[in-house]
Amino acid sequence: MDPDLRRRLEAVVGAAHVLDDPDTRASYETDWTRRFSGPAACVVRPASAAEVAGVLQICRAAGIAVVPQGGNTGLVGGSVPRAGEAVLSLRRLDAIEDFDEVAGEVTVGAGVTLERLQEHVRAAGWDVGVDLASRASATIGGMVATNAGGVRVIRFGPMRHQLIGIEAVLADGAILRRLPGLLKDNTGYDLPGLLAGSEGTLAVITRVRLRLVPLRPARAVALLGLPSLDAALQVVRAVRRAAPGLEAAEVFFPEGLDLVLRHTHLAPPFPRPYPCYLLLECAGPADPAPALAAALEPVADPAATLLATDRADRDRLWACRERHTEAISAEGIPHKLDVTLPADRLAAFEPAVRARLAAVRPAARPILFGHAGDGNLHVNILGLDPDDDAADGAVLELVASFGGSISAEHGIGIAKKPWLSLTRSPADISAMRAIKRALDPAGILNPGVIFDLEPPAPGVA
Ligand code: FAD
Ligand code: MLT
Ligand code: ZN
Repeated sequence: MDPDLRRRLEAVVGAAHVLDDPDTRASYETDWTRRFSGPAACVVRPASAAEVAGVLQICRAAGIAVVPQGGNTGLVGGSVPRAGEAVLSLRRLDAIEDFDEVAGEVTVGAGVTLERLQEHVRAAGWDVGVDLASRASATIGGMVATNAGGVRVIRFGPMRHQLIGIEAVLADGAILRRLPGLLKDNTGYDLPGLLAGSEGTLAVITRVRLRLVPLRPARAVALLGLPSLDAALQVVRAVRRAAPGLEAAEVFFPEGLDLVLRHTHLAPPFPRPYPCYLLLECAGPADPAPALAAALEPVADPAATLLATDRADRDRLWACRERHTEAISAEGIPHKLDVTLPADRLAAFEPAVRARLAAVRPAARPILFGHAGDGNLHVNILGLDPDDDAADGAVLELVASFGGSISAEHGIGIAKKPWLSLTRSPADISAMRAIKRALDPAGILNPGVIFDLEPPAPGVA
């Protein structure tokens, strides 16, 4: 690393927070899936918005691009360097401040993990509207930057819907600060909403103000074995109308459950396998189990239905769904696609995607699971070379032909960039490029993520 650059960065963040030793850099250079990695010029760990601004000004002047990084749990390759960028780790921005226990709002540093925030606000009777299995490492800043979804979108929406204020640093070091906690504020463009889902390409998020949801300690979880995804979706429709407080409607299939059971050594939930599994969770101020059981009664086979209210029993059922990600990664390096389909096309998409994969890459091992209530299916594929993306393209083209979106919640990153134009129009993409150029004219913030700054030559994807 250039000694003069090092000296200038150290003057902003302190010598202990500019890391360029290869062993120390390693965990910042490879993503959670192990499919994406690249060398970093260095890792810089600022502790405030002012320090972030100082680092960006130095990097911009030196012509060094920056990859913002939170917990590095992203699944699309956008959180790790590609070609010698500086990694800007935001984990030291870890203050939880200004918690309004009456209004249910909190301001948090971008580096606070979801789990820490959950523990903090739950102690006061509030909860975070978004929950996901990576909660121990995923940071609030990263979750806003990806507009993370998770298992409760059906009830509370994704991260953008929780956001009521933001502090962020632009590429030139200017600090945007909209943290007043006003629920209604129609004074021009919604900058927090724009930065949600921008994947580190428009600004570095340093603090966010979130709207919380009331803690609902009374919970009931049902796990159903069903003959098909279509049958599962019919149950979701019935329960949505009949059971109040539905928070999660998650599906998975026998190939994924087998992997989870093998990896976790958990006992199988049912004495025999079913073609499809549906996990439902309802929550409320009072025990939701009677209403959930009554809603299921006309649509579910009692022999293939488990109902749990006790925390340990609920966790056991949730493990069958939540531990898919780690079980799949323990088996190999997956290609991870997360797609949404129109509600009425989801059931037909499932056999179609399996058939398409078998035709394109006979060695592909698809493992499907996802958030049935949101039309969001995760198509994970094992058995492929990490660089062979023919199967990815085939799946995403199929999604487009079904009227879906190529990313439901993980974002585009590097992994899906070649296929952005399948579900975003040329006008959309040129508007996004114009915003990127206006906010980051030198292109130093996460270059190459979502799209390249210059349009590709004609005929190039
Ligand atoms: P990182 O991985 O560090 O970064 C992700 C992106 O955000 C990168 O492009 C990065 O440059 C940018 N970024 C990070 N911090 C900032 C910042 N402060 N300012 C600007 N840009 C920033 N995702 C879901 O949506 N739903 C799920 O249910 C879900 N479950 C998961 C389960 C597991 C086991 C794992 C490993 C991942 C899961 N994910 C899920 C993906 C991941 O956890 C989310 O995308 C999460 O939001 C990433 O947060 P992070 O702090 O790890 O961000
Ligand atoms: C999930 O729903 O479990 C996540 O989005 C993670 C994944 O897709 O592996
Ligand atoms: Zn998901």
